[in-house]
Amino acid sequence: MFFNLALIGFGNVNRALVGFLESKKTELEQKYNLEYRVTGVMTRRLGWLADANGLDTNALLEGKPISSSISGDLQSWLEASEANVLFEASSLEPFTGQPAIDYIRTALESGCHVVSANKGPVVHAAKELHNLAQARGLKFRHEASFMGGSPIYSLFRETLPAASIRRFRGLLNSTTSTVLQTIEAGSSFEEGIKRAQEVGIAETDPSFDVDGWDSAVKVCGLANVLLGTQLDVTKLERVSIRDLEVTEIQEAARAGTPIRQVAFIDVLETGLRAGVRHEKIGFNDPLRATGTTNISHFELDVLPGLTITTHNAGAKETAYDMLADFINICKF
Ligand SMILES: NC(=O)c1ccc[n+]([C@@H]2O[C@H](COP(=O)([O-])OP(=O)(O)OC[C@H]3O[C@@H](n4cnc5c(N)ncnc54)[C@H](OP(=O)(O)O)[C@@H]3O)[C@@H](O)[C@H]2O)c1
Repeated sequence: MFFNLALIGFGNVNRALVGFLESKKTELEQKYNLEYRVTGVMTRRLGWLADANGLDTNALLEGKPISSSISGDLQSWLEASEANVLFEASSLEPFTGQPAIDYIRTALESGCHVVSANKGPVVHAAKELHNLAQARGLKFRHEASFMGGSPIYSLFRETLPAASIRRFRGLLNSTTSTVLQTIEAGSSFEEGIKRAQEVGIAETDPSFDVDGWDSAVKVCGLANVLLGTQLDVTKLERVSIRDLEVTEIQEAARAGTPIRQVAFIDVLETGLRAGVRHEKIGFNDPLRATGTTNISHFELDVLPGLTITTHNAGAKETAYDMLADFINICKF
């Protein structure tokens, strides 16, 4: 089977994805009879690049100009690239999920499967986009949008049928963990942000991390997809690490109970509570971690405690989630 691939966004994640597509090419062909070429790339700065015979991705990775720019819109770009699969990895817009939702909707209406790393569309339009994909006999997958490098959505979809979530707690934002640990070690908030940016884990606008939006969007997406809710991210309980005093952060760490930004869902008889709060993490807490480790801890009706941990996940691990979604879509 041969697939033409179109990429929206060409930042940390989609660049890492292109690296995987290249390094895994022979393996995917031999194991899954899966062949492909990248025929479209679009960002605001690069414009609409399309060539149905394949773009020179090495030149793009090296930042060299390539002469495949077309004028038009998303629809004409998808047509010019003869795309079968869209990889959407543009920047997060937490309040509306746009323009990524429109990109994904148009791609599905044009007959493309969609793999997204973007949390915005999952929070604001998961149900609509899944229904649209199903009606067209296509797939919309977004494993990379929650805890890069760990298969949570597919775990519940494929492996845990009829399991109900009672409670969830998660350390979901590596940037805030990095900033807090930097402050605990005596350096500044700004230094922590710089470190997170250097390793490519910070959002394009790091205030989305710091002010709890990234975690809020993730927990909202999780609840909307796995619990069938329609939570409004702007109405969730949410905290910002800017509101913590340096002394408070350092004293908590010295006492052995460091403060972390924790996303939570409580399924109560009276309804559902979800949000982002600061918690002191004790020694026996499943969320106890160092570095940029992300952790999801679920309490299910069928399992008292299920903890999934990803160590030092960044753009590359997120890109692997996208690759895995692509393989799983295409191999059946
Ligand atoms: N990095 C991670 O570890 C990670 C983990 C999980 C999920 N994600 C998600 O993956 C997505 C990409 O992350 P990233 O780290 O690759 O971000 P990034 O390095 O900042 O790259 C973002 C890319 O999107 C493009 N872009 C932004 N707005 C756009 C728009 N309206 N239309 C078309 N292109 C647009 C940007 O180029 P222009 O400025 O030229 O448009 C850039 O190429 C984000 O939604 C992020 O939340 C990232």
